[in-house]
Amino acid sequence: MTKARLFSGMQPSADSLQIGNYIGALMQWRDMQEEYDAFFTVVDLHAITVPQDPVQLREKTRRTAAQYIAAGIEPSKSTLYVQSQVPAHAELAWILSTITGFGEAGRMTQFKDKSQRYGSDQASVGLFTYPVLMAADILLYQTEAVPVGDDQKQHVELTRNLAERFNARFGETFTVPEPVIQKETARIYDLQDPTSKMSKSAESQAGVLYLLDDVNVTAKKIMRAVTDSDGVVRYDRETKPGVANLLSIYAALTGREISAIEDEYAGRGYGDFKKGLRDVVVAEFEPVRARALELLEDPAELDRTLAANADRAATAAEETLSAVYDRVGLLRRG
Ligand code: TYM
Repeated sequence: MTKARLFSGMQPSADSLQIGNYIGALMQWRDMQEEYDAFFTVVDLHAITVPQDPVQLREKTRRTAAQYIAAGIEPSKSTLYVQSQVPAHAELAWILSTITGFGEAGRMTQFKDKSQRYGSDQASVGLFTYPVLMAADILLYQTEAVPVGDDQKQHVELTRNLAERFNARFGETFTVPEPVIQKETARIYDLQDPTSKMSKSAESQAGVLYLLDDVNVTAKKIMRAVTDSDGVVRYDRETKPGVANLLSIYAALTGREISAIEDEYAGRGYGDFKKGLRDVVVAEFEPVRARALELLEDPAELDRTLAANADRAATAAEETLSAVYDRVGLLRRG
């Protein structure tokens, strides 16, 4: 029996991934790669929708790939590659942009947030069409499952709409994908501002737990995480967002129920709770960090692995792209 396809990706927009990427996506990827024919991409074409330094971008791309592998994605089992090395992504994105409504793209909340941050003159057209490129990523591989954090749900929804629209207009071409979102851990928040999503490209790094941070830095960030004056370890997102967020992280990394963790820390202060969490996070991150740094010591080998995987991806992508060009009515070179 052939395995169902899975696709997901992350932007190489920082030197290191953060714990939200790890819990919201990477942990699921690692588990799901066993049952699926999985494609994991470093989406560098998405990253350049906001300004990037060229030298750093290449380095961040390698670092992101190294962290995928260090976290347990196996390039011999899954197809792990760099988006720009497979031209079909950009090609399909163009076709899909011609069936995407202007208003439809304008309703994407991530675009609204980012364009507000940059101002309308600074926000690029690429930032606006970002979700269309994401749809192309997913649809090229006849993907069934897209494991992401809940901030990407709207983009996967758009992808589904575009697939259905294309199929209705030009004939069955694309598989309509399903998002796979882990409920409890769907969103991790900033440790200093626990009502904002944790982001690897956040302006302040104080509340962001990076996979590649030094252990002492990670420990400090956890011990300094914002809590409240109530002193009780209890999950309440509304009134205790800081503590609730720490509980989510604790539960996600240990696989334990939040209520069991609340019980364990009943009658103890936040200091004890944070120390417990610190130990959990450090134990989880240490081997990943060590392996990633080791892989980065041999960039040529890493580049070779990525190139071989890109060849595999290109073959799969070409099949869909060719069908799309035919359906749309483009005159093919004989
Ligand atoms: P990116 O690079 O922002 O994030 C990568 C993955 O991490 C998840 N994530 C989080 N989950 C929980 N809590 C958080 N604070 C948190 N921050 C990030 C994201 O949901 C994502 O799963 N547009 C995508 C990249 C992309 C993609 C794709 C994903 C491009 N094409 C095709 C899936 C399929 C993005 O910006 O991810």
